[in-house]
Amino acid sequence: MEKLVIKGGTPLRGSVSILGAKNSAIAILPATLLCKGICTLHNVPNIIDVRLSCQILEQLGSKITWIDNNTLIIDNTNISKTHAPLDLTSKFRASYYLIGAMLGRSREIEVGLPGGCNLGARPIDQHIKGFEALGATSNLSQGKIYVKADKLVGTSIYMDVVSVGATINVLLASVFAEGTTIIDNAAKEPHVVDVANFLNSLGADIRGAGTDLIKINGVKSLKSNITYSIVPDQIEAGTFMLAAIASKGDLIIKNCIPEHLDSLTSKITEIGGNVEAYGDTIHVWATKRPSKTVIKTLPYPGFPTDLQPQMGVVLSLAMGTSIINESIWDSRFQYTAELNKMGAHITSQGKSAIFEGVDKLYGAPVYATDLRAGAALVIAGLVADGITEVYNIKHIDRGYECIEKNFSSLGANIERIVEN
Ligand code: EPU
Repeated sequence: MEKLVIKGGTPLRGSVSILGAKNSAIAILPATLLCKGICTLHNVPNIIDVRLSCQILEQLGSKITWIDNNTLIIDNTNISKTHAPLDLTSKFRASYYLIGAMLGRSREIEVGLPGGCNLGARPIDQHIKGFEALGATSNLSQGKIYVKADKLVGTSIYMDVVSVGATINVLLASVFAEGTTIIDNAAKEPHVVDVANFLNSLGADIRGAGTDLIKINGVKSLKSNITYSIVPDQIEAGTFMLAAIASKGDLIIKNCIPEHLDSLTSKITEIGGNVEAYGDTIHVWATKRPSKTVIKTLPYPGFPTDLQPQMGVVLSLAMGTSIINESIWDSRFQYTAELNKMGAHITSQGKSAIFEGVDKLYGAPVYATDLRAGAALVIAGLVADGITEVYNIKHIDRGYECIEKNFSSLGANIERIVEN
């Protein structure tokens, strides 16, 4: 078992470079299945979820080579199977993208029901609704789902909820559908746009990604070769921005797209932090205790749910009482019980939490309940008095490459310890 041990109290200073987005990489990896040739991917985060995606693809017949820490070559010339390994696919959420991609490629796929962070109910009804509208049939039993189509025909699909996963999945399934598919009420996240850019570079005809109406004109084939670089991870960048604010530090965050962080920048400025953006770089710093605010998480371009726990640490230290309303996930306040062990005053009920700001947090043993909760607890440990031990860090490793190395390079006293 591994844990992170953090001696808090040092303001973070220096510069950090952001890698490709986890949630884009784990969609683009299955999307490569639509290419019957070779895809070279740069800026791939070397994280557990990416490695898991690679293992699943390999079991389907992909040949994958890491040519350096963040570059992959994927040869999908010979995909021989349509049954994905259930033990692996049920381990993480994004295995659902295999359905859209394999429907497109082979018209058939069986996968285990997706796992991933426990954030409350995570239905995939909108994915299924989209596949069935395109002409597929689906059968769900014994923890697995089998989806098949004799042919896929473009149609108009209205998403009842704004869903990143369903938007990307239907996009994947419709690349080779006959005629035109329209996805209405689509998600607009940067990784939706990234997947569409990847597919268009391969020869797909997708228009409107990044708006709530995406139009896909089906094509008969794609190119057999592509080199593509994954979009920078706005959640990783936002995590460092909030760590800078919480620690009253001063950070230069490189290789990011500042516009993807507008909602966070606006909140940081509102609570008294400072942000300057130029080109692909963000300078963020704080000199005083943050002030209180009210936040509601929303689909992009609203405030991202994936930065809510990290912002929760900042607000637990703010002057006055703040409120966060979580509108995406039912159970994303599990981290607040851990922060309270460190001296925070947070009351959460259902999808709201009240943060009565305290002067200080104090080091304690805490437990990462999910990926972003883990990132939040690391930030809390960095600013707390004394020693914090963060347990269950496998969640953090699912989404952040070497989090402790990055924070160490910014002056933090943080170490990974392997316990037997
Ligand atoms: N929803 C449905 N039916 C569906 C699909 C979604 O009701 O068929 C609901 C969900 O229950 C939720 C809302 O719609 O209330 C949004 O869900 P969405 O489908 O957008 O989430 P997701 O695709 O499962 C991705 C990220 C999450 C991130 C959300 C929201 C991946 C693998 N995961 O999940 O990332 O929180 O979008 O932006 O891309 C994380 O990185 O820590 C993480 C949890």
